[in-house]
This record gives sequence, C-alpha cells and structure tokens, in this order.
Amino acid sequence: GSPVALDSEPMRRLIDVLRDDFGLTGTKEGCGEGECGACSIIVNGRLMNSCIMPLISADGCFIITIEGFSSTNRFQLLKECFAEAGAVQCGFCTPGMMMAAEALLSRNPHPDEAQIREAISGNLCRCTGYSMIVDAILAASRLGEGLW
Ligand code: FES
Ligand code: FES
Repeated sequence: GSPVALDSEPMRRLIDVLRDDFGLTGTKEGCGEGECGACSIIVNGRLMNSCIMPLISADGCFIITIEGFSSTNRFQLLKECFAEAGAVQCGFCTPGMMMAAEALLSRNPHPDEAQIREAISGNLCRCTGYSMIVDAILAASRLGEGLW
C-alpha cells in the first residue's frame, strides 16, 4: 500500500527482498522452484510465486503480501474460516493458501468447489488433504457477502 524504492541487484529473487530487506517473513519458502506456492504473493492482482520472480519484474508493480492482506476485513474472515474448518495444521502453507484464496475471491466472489481446487492447485499442503481448505474458502465466500 505504499511505494518503496530499493537500490539492489535486479535479478535477486523477490522473496529474498521481501523477507531479508523488508522483514516480511510471512511469505514462506518451501521449494524455491515455483512448485509449492508457499511463497505466493499478489502482483497487480495476479497470484505469483515470489521465489521465481526477479526483483526487476516487480518494478512499478502493486504487490500484496500476507502482511498487507492481514490488515483487511477479508483476511479476518478468511482466518476465522480457516480456523473453524481446521484448515491450518503446521501452518507453513497457510499464508500462500490465503493469498491464493484472496486472489480467487477477488475475481470470483462465489466460486464452486472445482474452481477453488483449481485456484489452489499451485499451492501444496502436506497436512490437511485440502478438503478443509476448500471448506474454509467456501465458507468465506458464503459469509463474505460484499467483502469481495
Ligand atoms: Fe516458491 Fe515453492 S517456495 S513455489
Ligand atoms: Fe501443513 Fe498445509 S497445514 S503444509
């Protein structure tokens, strides 16, 4: 939500800049290869893997991390729905999952189960079996009338 200027190597990974330079450690690194979605952020409205995004690609972009998202009412509702559904176990995938949910609900406030599964298909969870995450996002969609 605020402009930042950085004098840095243009090919550094964006996840390193977020975590190391800005202390935004809510964005997690799992695979570091664009496969697990733990590092998901929203860039100009699109879900992106920050571990494979070079800093230069972020120039001039509007970026939302889980920290920025956490100040919204949408986050509060999603958080409660994730907790209620039991969609958080170890929690490592959760920031990325919530960013994927936010990206989906922002473009489609009333997704069906198949659309939710497609939207989180790039986000791996080793704990929950996904069904509880899908339930949480469905509940947020149902309860969040007007938020998205
Ligand atoms: Fe970026 Fe796995 S850490 S996709
Ligand atoms: Fe552990 Fe998803 S809750 S990886």
